[in-house]
Amino acid sequence: MSALFRAVGFSVAMILMFASVTYVLPQVKGEAPEEEEMDLGELTMDSFVEMGEKLYQGKGTCTLCHNSLGRAPDLLTYNVQAVSLERIADDRYQGKAGDAESYLRESMKQPSAYVVEGFGKKGSNDTESPMPAVDQPPTQLSDIEIDGIIAFLQKKDGNPVTVALPSADAAPAVDTGPAAAPALAQTAEEAIAKFGCAACHAILESVSPVGPSLKDVGTRLPPDKIRSSIIDPKADIAPGFPPIMPEFPNMALAELELVVEFLSRQTGSQP
Ligand code: HEC
Ligand code: HEC
Repeated sequence: MSALFRAVGFSVAMILMFASVTYVLPQVKGEAPEEEEMDLGELTMDSFVEMGEKLYQGKGTCTLCHNSLGRAPDLLTYNVQAVSLERIADDRYQGKAGDAESYLRESMKQPSAYVVEGFGKKGSNDTESPMPAVDQPPTQLSDIEIDGIIAFLQKKDGNPVTVALPSADAAPAVDTGPAAAPALAQTAEEAIAKFGCAACHAILESVSPVGPSLKDVGTRLPPDKIRSSIIDPKADIAPGFPPIMPEFPNMALAELELVVEFLSRQTGSQP
């Protein structure tokens, strides 16, 4: 019995290691004999930082304002992590952050907690930020995405990255109160919303890059593979992505089939 467990544990470890190595080193095939010595944690943090940079440049729309045109401070030109501590110590600081990581998170969720001098809304005397909270529509970044951006902002100046790597346990809270028996989704769209798939995947309105885009998944995977990806996410990790997709023990079979049928029809090449 315990030998079986060891064998299973070993192959899971190999799968995880293989997935991470392929993720970070897609081009250097044949050059990775030292796989055992690679630090999985670090490899995955690198990929997380990379995701944060993509979000910063893309979906997060940060560079619309944070650029060299003066609409907002250009975060890429100064050590925003180091400056955070000065912000917190400033008399004008209104927030609750105790360290740089939480200052950066607060800057994105409650921009008016501190308004960089000269950048406040007109007439507000630098008490109101023109920056929209990026966890709200239309940008609506998830907590995982915000953490990725923090990791990127920390890393870009060589600061230690203090955010925790996402894990399946920290997956976006799915809206199911412990007592409430959540209503059965009637359509695939409802099921996708109910189980929070869009927090990590490009699907419907979402463009999240945490997991593979599902907008063309019908061209890549047959229905039974789509089904097994949802039932048992750890069994087969898509190359190039971190193994963080959670399981959905509360998903009813009918909901699963709605989603599988819907995803099988997703063949669009999205811009
Ligand atoms: C609509 C314009 C706009 C967008 C979009 C925007 N910001 Fe800002 N941001 C600002 C302005 C203006 C300030 C300076 C005023 C203030 O401190 O709130 C600022 C301040 C900040 C600060 C504090 C900087 C410091 O030195 O204290 C951080 C961090 C930040 N933004 C991060 C982001 C990130 C990350 C994104 C994208 C997810 C983003 N912002 C999107 C306009 C924007
Ligand atoms: C916390 C983030 C997260 C959530 C939430 C999530 N996924 Fe994923 N998903 C991923 C990641 C990362 C991968 C790629 C790694 C892997 O294969 O596990 C993935 C892989 C997949 C794949 C395989 C895609 C391919 O191209 O190989 C499918 C299908 C999928 N997810 C469907 C879903 C569905 C349906 C939901 C909602 C019920 C969902 N996911 C929720 C992160 C997530």
